[in-house]
Amino acid sequence: MATAVLLAAGSGERFSREVPKQLLKVAGITVIEHALRAFESHEDITDIVIVTRDDLLGEVSELVDGKFTKISKIVSGGATRSDSSKAAISAIDAGDQEKILMHDAVRPLVTEKIISDCVLALDKYDAIDVAIPTSDTIIEISNGNIESIPQRDKLRRGQTPQGFRLGVLRKAYDLLNQEENFHPTDDCGVVAHFLPTIAIGVVAGSEVNIKLTYPIDSFLADKLFQLRSAQINHVERELLQASFEGKTVLIFGGTYGIGASIGSQAEILGANVEVFSRSSTETDVQKIESVRKALSQTKEKTGRIDFVINTAGLLKISRLNELTDNDVQDLIGANYLGAVNVARASYEYLQDTKGKLLLFASSSYTRGRANYSLYSSSKAAVVNLVQALSDEWVEIGLSINCINPERTNTPMRVENFGTEDPKTLLEASVVAEASLQVLASDLSGSVIDVRQ
Ligand code: CTP
Ligand code: MG
Repeated sequence: MATAVLLAAGSGERFSREVPKQLLKVAGITVIEHALRAFESHEDITDIVIVTRDDLLGEVSELVDGKFTKISKIVSGGATRSDSSKAAISAIDAGDQEKILMHDAVRPLVTEKIISDCVLALDKYDAIDVAIPTSDTIIEISNGNIESIPQRDKLRRGQTPQGFRLGVLRKAYDLLNQEENFHPTDDCGVVAHFLPTIAIGVVAGSEVNIKLTYPIDSFLADKLFQLRSAQINHVERELLQASFEGKTVLIFGGTYGIGASIGSQAEILGANVEVFSRSSTETDVQKIESVRKALSQTKEKTGRIDFVINTAGLLKISRLNELTDNDVQDLIGANYLGAVNVARASYEYLQDTKGKLLLFASSSYTRGRANYSLYSSSKAAVVNLVQALSDEWVEIGLSINCINPERTNTPMRVENFGTEDPKTLLEASVVAEASLQVLASDLSGSVIDVRQ
């Protein structure tokens, strides 16, 4: 059992954005909330202390209010990181043997394993660092020139959390109070400097456990959350059933492929499934009236709409200048305007049920591709739309996410690419299963990659 301290009192000079980096939203929620979730959901953690800036105390308290049960204190930090650590240590009311994990709140991707390993290692050591090997060669400089090149395999890059027995941490920080010319960048540094006889163990960190330091790190974090969401959201079948039983699932484009598979799996889980598509009901997502009609019919029939899924999409491989006027309208209409229409029209129904909307992107959204210009740029627009709406809808309890399937074995794909080796393609049922997992989760604003 251990107490976690989340250090969030920095000013993010190097990050240089309007929003403090600890409050920046990544994958639907703020960076500090991601870190909090990791500790809140960890069985070894009993208490969480947050240290933040004076001017952010109100905002942080409001943000976490009612969402976390383990937060015992929110205190003001100091001018330097070690001043902030000190503030946390003074606020903790526990014995010297208490295990403490000091964590940078701007490392939102800390894993369950790192936390477990730290807590466990404190049975053997009084202080623990978390570190990873360095892939770059590290050089030591003096006046801009190389002074030495330490042997790379002996070097590690330090991360957080760092773990301590509280008594050791207290002693080291008491000694720091008496010395003015030492400027540590982490807590192990304080222990190593003032208590050199204490052995500090090292447990393996992770390349994923990045610290948001420079602007580019927010892009990396975004991408890393996508990868992670594809891996972790696997709730048990009973829980999945509880999420769908008696609920209404409305699917646009559900006659073939992924949409059809979502429909049949949701039905097995006990949901009422209503399918609308061009071929089955002449529903055209490009026309808002057509979308509204599908929604109102469903509401009339089942009395509620809990989940709306839009898998309707259109792919036509061609150079832009070889598309007809109609093609252009259809490609943007089906892939982008369709998503906008479904989002606009579903809003009032989902508001009643605190429901969820799921849209679909494509792996080509991250970079425009020759012969797919309108398809991939529309899908990029859908991703952007999901992020924006997630922010707009969070207050009223609606969630919206986007699935980003890899190449999937669907009729639309076969029509465009002919028959391909099925072993290289995802099955529609796998994408459908991931979609239901996302709908059953508390994610919002996420783009979830689904791969083989
Ligand atoms: N931190 C803190 N109190 C400080 C300085 C830093 O609690 N006075 C926290 C930060 O909020 C962050 C962690 O320590 O979670 C790691 O610090 P760093 O990445 O350096 O963040 P900042 O100090 O905010 O950024 P910068 O150094 O670029 O200003
Ligand atoms: Mg700093």
